[in-house]
Amino acid sequence: MKQIIVAIDGYSSCGKSTIAKQLAQYAGYRYIDTGAMYRAVALYAIRNKISDISNQQPEIIALLPQVHIDFAIQPDGLQHVTLNGEDVEKQIRTLEVGNMASQIAVIPEVRRFLVAQQQQMGKNGGIVMDGRDIGTVVFPKAELKLFLTASPEVRAERRYKELIEKGEQPVMADVLADVNDRDYRDTHRAESPLKQAADAVVVDNSNMTREEQIQHIYRIFNEACK
Ligand code: DC
Repeated sequence: MKQIIVAIDGYSSCGKSTIAKQLAQYAGYRYIDTGAMYRAVALYAIRNKISDISNQQPEIIALLPQVHIDFAIQPDGLQHVTLNGEDVEKQIRTLEVGNMASQIAVIPEVRRFLVAQQQQMGKNGGIVMDGRDIGTVVFPKAELKLFLTASPEVRAERRYKELIEKGEQPVMADVLADVNDRDYRDTHRAESPLKQAADAVVVDNSNMTREEQIQHIYRIFNEACK
């Protein structure tokens, strides 16, 4: 059977990566979490004492040639992002890094740097890639484009639970404000803003169980492979 490209875009915390991972496993495809790549660049910037993105863009751009991002497949089949050979999967999942990633993602040079690597990773198909601009910029000719969405309140609640599980002590109002801020930045930046591709299939999962959603997406995938 043909190995297609599946592009999954959508807002933060709407379950993209869970769905993308499950679909990749179902299809026997490689999964690429492009958000993890933006987060890895953000972590590198934080480690290099960058704190004010708007005034330090030249410094961030100058750091890019030192950033080598890859994905290491774990014994359980999951992939961990690596930054210059170091497994940073855990370190990139904090609110601080997420916020920094969202700010760094507005810099055109950063986007070009990562988009070129993503296109290289997916050029032979057999891939499920999730992010914000996969169906619009990275793979505008992807055979299947999914656009996932859920209400900000539902997403904030999911994010809150995840942070609690990780041992953080979030405040619900902060998490919701963070979701709204990130939505705004993701959809309003000049370079590759998050938007639904005209030919994307929209899945609003606010009122769907995970199982309902995945079964729905398997059907769409099977149709697209015909
Ligand atoms: O999906 P995530 O929360 O891990 O992504 C972190 C940030 O990276 C998010 O605020 C937007 C940005 N991002 C992007 O601009 N383009 C992508 N393809 C993936 C993520």
